[in-house]
Amino acid sequence: MKVLKLFLLAFVLFFSSLARADEGMWLPLLLEKLNEQQMKSLGMKISARDIYSVNNGSLKDAIVSFGGFCTGEVISSKGLVLTNHHCGFDAIQNHSTLDNNYIRDGFWARNYAEEIPNQGLFVTFIARIEDVSKLVLNGVTSGMSEKDRQALIEKNMGLVKNAAKRETYQDAFIRGFFEGNQYYMFVTETYNDVRLVGAPPSSIGNFGKDTDNWMWPRHTGDFSLFRIYAGKDNKPAAYSTENVPFVPKKSLSISLDGTAKGDFTMIFGFPGRTTEYLPAAAVKQIVEVNDPTKIAIRDKALAVIDGFMRNDEQIKIQYAAKYASIANAWKKWQGEVLGLNRTDGVGKKKKYEEEFNRRVLASAQLKQQYGTVLGDLEKAYAELYPYGIARDIYGEIIPKIELFTVIQQLKQLKAAQNQGETAFQAQLPKTKERLREFYKEYDSRVDVKLFEALMPIYIGQDSAYSAPSVRQKSAGYAGDYARWAQELYKTTVLADENKVLEALDKDPAGLLNALTNDPAVALQTELAQNYSAKVLPRLTEIQARINALQRTYMQAQMDVMTEKKFYPDANSTLRVTYGTVKGYEARDAVAYDIHTYLDGVMEKYVPGDYEFDVPAKLRELYQKKDYGQYGAAGKMPVCFIAANHTTGGNSGSPALDAYGNLVGLNFDRVWEGTMSDINYDPSICRNIMVDIRYVLFIIDKYAGAGHLVKEMKLVHPKKKK
Ligand code: ARG
Ligand code: GLU
Repeated sequence: MKVLKLFLLAFVLFFSSLARADEGMWLPLLLEKLNEQQMKSLGMKISARDIYSVNNGSLKDAIVSFGGFCTGEVISSKGLVLTNHHCGFDAIQNHSTLDNNYIRDGFWARNYAEEIPNQGLFVTFIARIEDVSKLVLNGVTSGMSEKDRQALIEKNMGLVKNAAKRETYQDAFIRGFFEGNQYYMFVTETYNDVRLVGAPPSSIGNFGKDTDNWMWPRHTGDFSLFRIYAGKDNKPAAYSTENVPFVPKKSLSISLDGTAKGDFTMIFGFPGRTTEYLPAAAVKQIVEVNDPTKIAIRDKALAVIDGFMRNDEQIKIQYAAKYASIANAWKKWQGEVLGLNRTDGVGKKKKYEEEFNRRVLASAQLKQQYGTVLGDLEKAYAELYPYGIARDIYGEIIPKIELFTVIQQLKQLKAAQNQGETAFQAQLPKTKERLREFYKEYDSRVDVKLFEALMPIYIGQDSAYSAPSVRQKSAGYAGDYARWAQELYKTTVLADENKVLEALDKDPAGLLNALTNDPAVALQTELAQNYSAKVLPRLTEIQARINALQRTYMQAQMDVMTEKKFYPDANSTLRVTYGTVKGYEARDAVAYDIHTYLDGVMEKYVPGDYEFDVPAKLRELYQKKDYGQYGAAGKMPVCFIAANHTTGGNSGSPALDAYGNLVGLNFDRVWEGTMSDINYDPSICRNIMVDIRYVLFIIDKYAGAGHLVKEMKLVHPKKKK
């Protein structure tokens, strides 16, 4: 009996260590070597080669980088692409007018002819991935200066890229991995004719807006549909009315069976940026000063903008996108600090470093190679400390006082003018266009208040890093920032959009001359020059040193912590992450369930509300429980969570089941777990997905666009058995 118990215990321990996947954003071409076994133990029924294969069609052939900032997936043999509503939002907004308000009402093309082209939007497939580390690092030695190293690497990358076998319609790029210890080449196929096919109204696609953003439980139908068009030969082609729907090598099958607790899921997409291998000293700075500094500045900015948006319809429309983008990172950083504190992210890193050092000191060779790396990093981060704060203050404040943005645009025009007439004439229309677009979403009444709210933070920082002349100006107003702001915006010509646009049309040279005496330009120049003189040089120098040390530390970790499986930080390249569907305990006595339902949408419903209104048609479908084939046990599933390690850029990524069928659409993470960009903790890090059945229900039942569902391949993997 005892033996059996022991055996069982060993068995359980073995499998729980094997099965604790969750963390990691893995390179598709290494899955077979590193992950396949574990994925299968978690329930995956397909092979690594079904996910990534160069010569045979595989799941990767259905995945695209959407516009370079999100992920999308092909879900029909006619090039239909699914992504998030917030990923397609630019396209939706661009085609919206007061009469055809697709943001408010949604948009559904009834046929190919109604699908709307989008200038500048593209999708990129990955044809293959190659490890080119040896070639790129050829000739690189440890004694080299960073500059020489970089120059040699650039040269090698050029050679490798040029020598790469590829078709005329293919491109290639090379990226550094593991802090520049490894390099991979991606051969790509980019399609530039991508048309808008469908989008739900924002009251579904962005239900809950900023209040619900980064939160669970969630009830958002965050999706939109596009279609890839190709030339008659099915190859990439510039937009043309002659183009035809693209026929993909692979499109995803869609499961109508949903997910249950413990089910295997994987997310396939393009995560943007993570920093998982920082030393404790760096994480401590993020938690204690960098995140809080940025949060405090955004607190002020958001309060100003929100105050206006609540009282002015016009400003509400103008500032909606800006507000959402400022609020998105602001809220994420708060969750990040909370999560790192709660799970003792710094303490965990310290323990890890103790073990690392213990092992390094135990071996003469490792000691010689890596004995000082952590100490050197700590010193470098201590030096970075004040410069990092100065960077955050400048980097957060300057772009938010938008008068400075206008000035930067005009300075660019001035620089072109200095180069001669040709350069000037080439730049002028661009500047005009940009400022025209800019002023559409600008109101100087808001900007004055932003100046008033944010300049005290600039002036209040350590005086070693702020501009003496600006401090003097501020002293002249004796703390009356309101008066300073009023006077500045009254005397500058640049706050008045009509004056600026008119001057650009009639007498651009005159406008540029007038800049010489403009007080706002003088102020912006002083701020910029001070930053360039007092912060930037040291910041750049220390950061370069840190980068080199991080590279060494990364290699060191791989050499020393040999039992650990390492995955490279996200860098906007194609990755697979996997885990199981599971809830989490947010805090003491608060446990979160896995699925949300339409009932929850109705619970949150506030008639006419900016964030929580529910369209009449959706309420009616709910009343009648008219869910068609998409409901489950009389209820309509909406969102679900799982322990997949995702980040920004994974928006729009497919959530796939054990067979590789589409079951969900990734769009967010839970608040307590946003620190997964820095330190993943399996207890609270969860990604949020829209249940694919909700997507289909909205398309079919809500929008009456059943013809789109007919293009798709719907399957019942669970009922088959
Ligand atoms: N938090 C998600 C992301 O980082 C969703 C953002 C869009 N939604 C919103 N309410 N702002 O992109
Ligand atoms: N919403 C994010 C995006 O746009 C994905 C959520 C996350 O950061 O995990 O990519």
